[in-house]
Amino acid sequence: MATKGKPPKKSDSDKTKAQSYRHVEADSPLRPEVGTQPKFKKKKPPVTYRYDSSLSPVLEWDGQNGARDLADFLLGCIKDAAKLPAPHVLDSPRELKLNDGTTSASVRGLEDAVDQLTALGKPFLNWAGKAERLSFDVPTLPLFVHERLSTAAIIDTLKSHRKPADVQLDLFGDPQHPISDQLLRAYEYRDKWVNRMILGDSLVVMSSLLHYEGLAGQVQTIYMDPPYGVKFGSNFQPFVRKRDVKHNDDDDMTREPEMVKAYRDTWELGLHSYLTYMRDRLLLARELLTQSGSIFVQISDENLHHVRELMDEVFGAEGFVCVVTFKKTSGASGNLLSSVSDYLLWYCKSRESLKYRQLLVQKVAGEEGGGQYTWAQLPDGSRRNFGSYQALSDAVPAGSRVFRQSTLTSQRPAQGGDVAAYEFEGRAFTPGKGTFKTNLKGLDNLARAGRLIAVGNNLSYVRYLDDFPVFPISNLWEDTVTSGFAAEKTYVVQTNSRVIERCILMTTDPGDLVLDPTCGSGTTAYVAEQWGRRWITIDTSRVPLALARQRLLTATFDWYDLKDEARGPVGGFVYKRKQNNKGEEVGGIVPHVTLKSIANDEPPQEEVLVDRPEKKAGIVRISGPFVVEATIPTPVDWDADKADDGGVPAAESHGSFVERMLEVLRRSPVLHLGAGKTVALKNVRIPAKTLTLSAEAQVEATAEGQQPSIADAVEEAAEKNKRLLPFSMRPVAIVFGPENGSIGENLVYEAGKEATAKRYTHLYVIGFAIQPNARKLVETCEEALGVPATYVQATPDLMMGDLLKNMRSSQIFSVCGLPDVELKQAGDAKPGKGLHYVVTLKGLDVFDPSTMATIPLKGEQVPAWFLDTDYNGLCFHVCQAFFPRTSAWESLKKALKATYSESVWDHLAGTKSAPFEGGEQGQVAVKVIDDRGNELMVVKKLTEARR
Ligand SMILES: C[S@@+](CC[C@H](N)C(=O)[O-])C[C@H]1O[C@@H](n2cnc3c(N)ncnc32)[C@H](O)[C@@H]1O
Repeated sequence: MATKGKPPKKSDSDKTKAQSYRHVEADSPLRPEVGTQPKFKKKKPPVTYRYDSSLSPVLEWDGQNGARDLADFLLGCIKDAAKLPAPHVLDSPRELKLNDGTTSASVRGLEDAVDQLTALGKPFLNWAGKAERLSFDVPTLPLFVHERLSTAAIIDTLKSHRKPADVQLDLFGDPQHPISDQLLRAYEYRDKWVNRMILGDSLVVMSSLLHYEGLAGQVQTIYMDPPYGVKFGSNFQPFVRKRDVKHNDDDDMTREPEMVKAYRDTWELGLHSYLTYMRDRLLLARELLTQSGSIFVQISDENLHHVRELMDEVFGAEGFVCVVTFKKTSGASGNLLSSVSDYLLWYCKSRESLKYRQLLVQKVAGEEGGGQYTWAQLPDGSRRNFGSYQALSDAVPAGSRVFRQSTLTSQRPAQGGDVAAYEFEGRAFTPGKGTFKTNLKGLDNLARAGRLIAVGNNLSYVRYLDDFPVFPISNLWEDTVTSGFAAEKTYVVQTNSRVIERCILMTTDPGDLVLDPTCGSGTTAYVAEQWGRRWITIDTSRVPLALARQRLLTATFDWYDLKDEARGPVGGFVYKRKQNNKGEEVGGIVPHVTLKSIANDEPPQEEVLVDRPEKKAGIVRISGPFVVEATIPTPVDWDADKADDGGVPAAESHGSFVERMLEVLRRSPVLHLGAGKTVALKNVRIPAKTLTLSAEAQVEATAEGQQPSIADAVEEAAEKNKRLLPFSMRPVAIVFGPENGSIGENLVYEAGKEATAKRYTHLYVIGFAIQPNARKLVETCEEALGVPATYVQATPDLMMGDLLKNMRSSQIFSVCGLPDVELKQAGDAKPGKGLHYVVTLKGLDVFDPSTMATIPLKGEQVPAWFLDTDYNGLCFHVCQAFFPRTSAWESLKKALKATYSESVWDHLAGTKSAPFEGGEQGQVAVKVIDDRGNELMVVKKLTEARR
């Protein structure tokens, strides 16, 4: 009984539950966790991708690009096949081999050979560099799991304060393979599926999916929203929280986000480089698609025509399905006809096998699909034409039924009987030059059902608006503008989710795999998650991935009823026929009454509206577990033993990488410290004799746009460290981490020793990622080895090799802060329970190497921080995820209001964790995402906890 004055307590069954879908029937190969890479043995050589030489850009009969050889070969096949009896098929396919042993053409018979010869003479799109690049190499890198995320696990920690091992590893979808298996059996074991967010260049990642995981032919739909290939010098979104980015004085929203900022000058040949970039990626995308699969490329009108030609080349003109035009803005721009739309190029792998689910949209009288409905059948049974739907809706009394008259005749022969004349309401009607659409019995049935109407000398069919309340969607989408009031955009180039939703719903079923190699803020992943599809999304930049991770982690969706709970989404959703009190169809199944069904006295057909499955109340759906992976870490000694892989010679490849990095550093010598501070390096050069160090330079400090003289900096540094001579005489040392790995402790140790011995004033350790113990050594380098050191994060965009010929200054190198974290015991241990702890993020200390001072940033200033309450030294399990001073968790909080108290959610918008029980590993890890998307991690032992 409820206590007086107090609201009745909700029982557990009343409370809203948070649940997610699980793809229990799907699997994927085990990927090793970050941290195992030093011993990871399963290396693979790079893969060479070849273009079909019959599509080589220049048809020159000089043997240069193999066209002559190919033509001779094809003519030979034609001669031989012509001698065979029709259909002139050769006993077995005849192949043309290249010098390196690979096949460049394969012919099945006469027709095939003639087709290939004809293709040689077809017009083609040519661009600078195309002819020189009939093949390209992509490194084959394994993917390492960096992070496991699960909204369910976060809610569970908040609720139970239990230690992770007790409850969470399953919630994380973590298969928990021993390290030995991760090293030796990686890519052999099959694990349960978890969705995946991958940091890396799409080319390298797609190649890894193909060659490490055998994912060829497994992806149902690819959605790709690349940079549009315009304004190669435009700006990008460099910060997680800031979207107000403009391209010079152009008010249009830019399409080139962070990656292009780094690359703004790397599209060295402008459009030419862009076309190469696109063609390479499309080629790999095609490999990943299943036979019934589709790819959508989002593009603007500037390059629509070029990209369509590219796609014709890669997918074949027969792979073209359609161009969708969708509205992106309602505002007029410029003096001429305003351009308000973008486009989707839709191609498929095979038209015959294409998976296609017709999307149906609500028919509204007087609008698209509902035109010509100008008649009404009034409540007294009389029928009247109002001339227009507008006139009808103004005058028609309630209870009337709207219809249109529709022809009863057809040019084709009648089905089952030729009625020359039909008598209706005392008059005889003939079908004119055609025939009636049905036979005498059918016409009688139509008359009996009140479906005939005489208009002048014609007999027509009465088609009610509600006979089929929906109509098939076309390739013009006008309802796709993101209004200022709609869900706020988090990313400057975010796609309206309705666009991607339609693509996914048209071409996939629940449980199918969707890939987006241009993640951005993760709209594809978000929509795929919403609709129970599996997803993989890739981005080369950390800023968009940070946004996408937050978006997925904090999202809430409706729970669509599953046909078979045990199988998960792959079993399909439940659809039902339902009507509201006005008699309108509101369910996911609608009747389709047709002339044929009435004439033949059959029940009407039913159509499924795939976007209207049954929703279950009382469940708030959250994202299923997902992982963050990256191509990056292989440590510095990765190639030290190259005995067993026969791969790239390590020293050489590292050498060329160092040269490239030096070049980049010379062109872009500014290290960003955050808070508007920078440090510039001068005279970057290779030291005369060196063991570990990569370069030396001199330092020039700048603060908030001002440039203090070198003398000031020298003085300040000399003040701090009396034993040093001025900078001009004692330059700083630089060491680069590995190209495809994270910096290990050993590299810092060796470089630190050498820098001390050679009496450099400072050591800069530059890399894409750093292992926690190496970072620790950097911080304590002065104490431990005698030289102060700074870790400088290089943007992963630098890994996109080829395009990086001509880079100018941008935020390529940044000095990241170190999180200042406090770990405290929360009260005394209770009997039967372990100690509880609380972590507070006090701030972020950014070291300024020019002044040797530390710039403190407050904890509230970071966009996000995560806590792993039982860090195993490898993969980071996000047990609590904080987005300080934001309303990121608001939607989940509202949905679960009655289930958890306010204070639970307060933690997640702040800098102090909820209490948690210590775990088996005896240590916690805190990962802070700074506003440039950099990830900074500290590990604390429970024994260090303050009381
Ligand atoms: C136009 S945005 C995509 C926006 C996305 N549709 C959304 O709704 O947020 C393109 C994204 O592709 C990424 N990108 C560009 N080239 C890439 C590459 N080679 N590999 C991986 N990501 C890339 C960029 O970093 C950027 O985030």
